[in-house]
Amino acid sequence: MTLNDVRKKYIDFFASKQHAIIPSSRLVPENDSTTLFTGSGMQPMIAYLLGQKHPEGSRLADSQKCLRVQDIDDIGDNRHTTFFEMLGNWSLGDYFKEQQIPWMFDFLTKELELDPNRIYVTIFAGNDEIGIPKDTESGRIWKNEFQSVGITADIVDDCETNGMQGGRIFSYGEKKNWWSRAGIPENMPVGEPGGPDTEMFWDFGSPLASTRRTGGLNDNELPEPIHAASVYANQPCHVNCDCGRFMEIGNNVFMQYIKTEQGFIELPQRNVDFGGGLERLTAAANDTQDIFTIDIFAPMIAILEKISGKKYADANIQYFRVIIDHIRAVTFLIGDGVVPDKKDQGYFARRLIRRAVRFGRFLEIEKPFLSQLAISVIQSYSNAYSNLLERQEIILSEILKEENKFSKTLRTGLLKFDQIFQNRDDVNGEQAFDLYATYGFPIELIIEEAQRQGKTVDTAGFQKEFDANMKKHQDLSRTASSGKFKGGLADHSDMSVKYHTATHLLHKALKTVLGDHVQQKGSNITPERLRFDFSHPEKMTPEEIKQTENLVNEQIQKDMTVTREEMSVAQAKEKGALGLFEHKYGDTVSIYTMGDFSCEICGGPHVEHTGVLGKFKITKEESASAGVRRIKAVLENLSFRT
Ligand code: SER
Repeated sequence: MTLNDVRKKYIDFFASKQHAIIPSSRLVPENDSTTLFTGSGMQPMIAYLLGQKHPEGSRLADSQKCLRVQDIDDIGDNRHTTFFEMLGNWSLGDYFKEQQIPWMFDFLTKELELDPNRIYVTIFAGNDEIGIPKDTESGRIWKNEFQSVGITADIVDDCETNGMQGGRIFSYGEKKNWWSRAGIPENMPVGEPGGPDTEMFWDFGSPLASTRRTGGLNDNELPEPIHAASVYANQPCHVNCDCGRFMEIGNNVFMQYIKTEQGFIELPQRNVDFGGGLERLTAAANDTQDIFTIDIFAPMIAILEKISGKKYADANIQYFRVIIDHIRAVTFLIGDGVVPDKKDQGYFARRLIRRAVRFGRFLEIEKPFLSQLAISVIQSYSNAYSNLLERQEIILSEILKEENKFSKTLRTGLLKFDQIFQNRDDVNGEQAFDLYATYGFPIELIIEEAQRQGKTVDTAGFQKEFDANMKKHQDLSRTASSGKFKGGLADHSDMSVKYHTATHLLHKALKTVLGDHVQQKGSNITPERLRFDFSHPEKMTPEEIKQTENLVNEQIQKDMTVTREEMSVAQAKEKGALGLFEHKYGDTVSIYTMGDFSCEICGGPHVEHTGVLGKFKITKEESASAGVRRIKAVLENLSFRT
């Protein structure tokens, strides 16, 4: 069964259960500063899970592009990828456990034809402290499903310490069977929705013989083989252990709670949020423990084998997996408008390319090779994601540019290396670290080059420097990411909503002042400011900036009512609504109108009257990239209306 087959079976299955099929959102979340990337199918759905009406109804399904950069160090094993597609279905206050669980059982056993004897499930064990009980209801429903195919399914509560004991349904605490964007209940901020979940696992029958990890946070560390079977031999095996026998293939979240100052309360509606990794489901359907052996990766592996003259096997397997994973991810990223850069999303695009180049060196590839792989990604996915083909030229040129730049960095590092070694036979830890940190020169290459020249490197000294610096870096990024999350929590807060409405006014004002060529190229909102990128060939003059500001402020002072309507894409176009029509919208779209000034396709939320926005001020106008300008603006707290 191919990846495309599995995606189609899933979509058709949920369409037959009266679900509206919605297109994937972009990898870069729009109007959401909580995260850099869409990391799960539910992320673009938050507002609807919290109660806003979705224009397509209360039953939705899709295949959502996701990127989890936090998994980057796990790439190289048999099941992790940074980019993946997550199949999702949602009940927005519609059906609940009684329908979801039997549907999933049918989808897995009838559509994917998975042997039910090899499917295991987990349920939430309950937590008295937060007043949320054990999910016995899901346990009962699963039991019935298994019973219907002649399988006795016992529930086991202590598998982590005592093993599986012949059970089929296992209860786990909140570390495994609770889902929210912030993880376990105690990490959830007030206002965040979450709930217990029930997960499904596929049994490959035996642990992995061996697995290889890139190891830790060090991008440059050589992989260490871990012999899974021997490491885990003396530990009880259960579906969530790491021996590789089981693989999670789907997660039904019963998104029914929200955290408040007083603890958890029920959301106004009980939701279902199902997410299943498309690549993993395809691997299970083909009963292959290595997801990189599913059909979609085959052409990339063949190309890499040809370029490197090496086989996807044994000693090379991890290098192949990292390169293929990273190039697929970066192809989709650039396809969604990201360019390799120093910060934010661009930083990760760059990091993925650089890692791929380095892992290519391990396969002894010296010439640029990444574009050939990217072409293969584009071809394999062009039916499902036409934007890749449309942006092929830019994808290939950005990858090549970064690949060449980094190759040059490596060459400069080599020169520096020669300088250091000129009059000595060894390099100390500090020097090695300097080569690594300043010139991006990987430690393996430093060691390799040293060996080639018959010299030595103080690797222990390097490690010491590295650990000290890494800790500093980790502390910093931890602070940054918790800050990021906190900032984002306010995302649905008043200020972010206000900035969102102000963005619509700004968009229209720019079109009025500068001309109809102005098109939105990007938008980013935090509770502190808005940022808006748009096409315009030159710097705005001070007069143009003033005029734009004035025009927005006039609309605010008029205190116009903001109204929302639903209509077809064709009607929206006819009405002259602003929108990125090259994006795929569903059949029905929602339109926000402000007086006769602004009319735009948008999922909301927005303020009810423009008067609450306060005073609009442009704080910066600068270039974002060729032909694209960027405005940053703030709202000063002088409401005309409260
Ligand atoms: N939100 C859940 C997940 O990401 C299910 O979609 O696993």
